[in-house]
Amino acid sequence: MDFENILIKEKGNLAILTINRPSKLNALNKNTIEELHRAFKMLNENKTIKVIIITGSGEKAFVAGADISEFANFNVEEGTELARKGQEILFDFVQNLGTPVIAAVNGFALGGGLELAMAAHFRVASSNAKMGLPEVSLGVIPGYGGTQRLPQLVGKGKAMEMIMTAGMISAEEAKDWGLVNYVVEQEELLPLCEKLAIKIMRNSSVAIGAAIKAVNANYTNCVNGFSVEIEQFGVSFGTIDFEEGTTAFLEKRKPNFE
Ligand code: COA
Repeated sequence: MDFENILIKEKGNLAILTINRPSKLNALNKNTIEELHRAFKMLNENKTIKVIIITGSGEKAFVAGADISEFANFNVEEGTELARKGQEILFDFVQNLGTPVIAAVNGFALGGGLELAMAAHFRVASSNAKMGLPEVSLGVIPGYGGTQRLPQLVGKGKAMEMIMTAGMISAEEAKDWGLVNYVVEQEELLPLCEKLAIKIMRNSSVAIGAAIKAVNANYTNCVNGFSVEIEQFGVSFGTIDFEEGTTAFLEKRKPNFE
């Protein structure tokens, strides 16, 4: 598959997806959003890929936001459609992907960039990273899920402050607030993400996909997360991975998940 603004590197069971518009600090234009959708879909359907890392090219930015030049002249209908389609094909799509997605936040993650990192299943940041939702400084609000996912991750008060001030927080603050799990020097960012990916890959991909569904259920309107957990727990009992995982434990050996 040919892409203009993203690069994909496969390393065994791992895929590293890099947003590659460094001259625009990897800002998300329409084409990049569509390419990311296609790439995530393709990697999720590729059963050899067990973990996806998403990052930005260069040392300055993960993603500096949605591409402001593309929506500056939009009207109400176009603005509504921009948020609706973006949420559907990228941000919700990533959150609900069965394959684990780690965001390696290697610099500015602003607006749509932070929203993309928050849609990933968890985040690791380099020490130079800066995060924020600056939309109100442009007279608009976060439209790619930021008003919902930021309070889920850092709590309502801190999210309100970040959104209202349009300010940026440092990587260390983001870690203290629970927005990122680790902060490391830039050269350690991908190696740490890969180490975490290897730990994830040792486990059952089928069970991980079910766990993602159950965790996400708590954040979905009108869905009872406990019920989804019961359902997904039960479904696990019918999988080959369950048979292999429990048999391996009882036989005192490591499981071999296909
Ligand atoms: N949309 C479109 N282009 C963007 C962009 C965005 N969100 N963020 C950066 N760029 C472009 C700049 O226009 C510039 O392009 P140019 O060289 O053709 O003029 C290039 O990326 C480099 O950015 P620049 O502003 O010169 O870098 P900087 O180091 O001075 O500042 C930032 C970095 C991140 C502080 C600044 O680019 C910024 O504030 N970006 C917008 C952030 C934002 O509001 N995001 C939310 C959008 S909803």
